[in-house]
Amino acid sequence: MTSYTDKGEKHERGKFVRFHHVTFWVGNAKQAASFYCDKMGFEPLAYKGLETGSREVVSHVIRQDKIIFAFDSPLNPGNEEMGAHLMKHGDGAKDIAFQVEDCDYLIKTAKQRGAVIVKDPWVEEDIHGRVKYAVVQTYGDTTHTFIEYLGPYKGLFLPGYKEPMFRDPLLAKLPQVGLRFIDHIVGNQPDDQMVPTSDWYQKCLMFHRFWSIDDKQIHTQYSSLRSIVVTNYEETIKMPINEPAVGKKKSQIQEYVDYNGGAGVQHIALNTSNIIQAIVNLRARGMEFLSAPDTYYDTLREKLKIAKIKVKEDLNRLQELKILVDFDDKGYLLQIFTKPVQDRPTLFLEVIQRNNHFGFGAGNFKSLFEAIEMDQEARGNLTVVTPKGQDQAFY
Ligand SMILES: [Fe+2]
Repeated sequence: MTSYTDKGEKHERGKFVRFHHVTFWVGNAKQAASFYCDKMGFEPLAYKGLETGSREVVSHVIRQDKIIFAFDSPLNPGNEEMGAHLMKHGDGAKDIAFQVEDCDYLIKTAKQRGAVIVKDPWVEEDIHGRVKYAVVQTYGDTTHTFIEYLGPYKGLFLPGYKEPMFRDPLLAKLPQVGLRFIDHIVGNQPDDQMVPTSDWYQKCLMFHRFWSIDDKQIHTQYSSLRSIVVTNYEETIKMPINEPAVGKKKSQIQEYVDYNGGAGVQHIALNTSNIIQAIVNLRARGMEFLSAPDTYYDTLREKLKIAKIKVKEDLNRLQELKILVDFDDKGYLLQIFTKPVQDRPTLFLEVIQRNNHFGFGAGNFKSLFEAIEMDQEARGNLTVVTPKGQDQAFY
């Protein structure tokens, strides 16, 4: 594992402040939003659709503390852009929005450095305030929307959005989850695309490398990956970029790329200050997680005996809930991964709690991979890679 101390380019103008929200393009926004509310503990925040004068696209926006997800679907027959996107990728994350300062400067710089600008800066307003937007293309069909508040915005979400049409009475009866903010968002790339993609962030968005791992460090007996984490100058936005590496069988990154039809968002990690409580309640709500074998915890107990840090949480409890632990000399993190949140084995979520540890769970990648491979095998996708690069089903 390599961590980088060079913070990259300090830009005098413009700033990437934080993850603002993630937009998902889905077949049925109403039902998708409801799944995240029921299973993950979100609450409806805002809405636009036919009733509010949005004639083409419906958008259900949900929130949990600082985490905001918007689910968009086309309202009319013949929406070619959204239709083609759904046909190719299925339901998934389409856009990662950043709150920025000096949107014009950031777009001008990105454009000069070769970024594809999907939409030049424009302003929207309603009675609650004014917001400037712009959209740039990143990996696959994924985009980044830049959002700049032109003065305080007093509305629920963004201009044009109104109150949710319905609040499900079931939600108040379910146990609170306590997810607080987006910790990081991971993008999977096809073979050999990790470096060009992370270079794009460094060049066009003036991000820098935060951390990287290569396939020698992260592999199971079957597959491996490489990963580079890029981040903004203030290190408030962390974006790991993965690519598959050749192994004996098909990498789970390759499985993602095959089912997503190219690069896209693999997982969104949500930070909590109490992961035990969060996972107890997420499991009570019916959320499904990847499992870790008991041998993982046997090994962990041995390693922790000689570690410089002490994990405050009860290890038996962590084992019961299948929460993973990664640590170094200074701190530790606790994390767990959901199963894919749609039928295609593409996007999933992570719940993470940090205790003075700023990694991404590299020590757990192997057990994460093994857990995913168990499911991958059940899906008939843990295929043998032949010298010609063709897959052969392995059951
Ligand atoms: Fe992660």
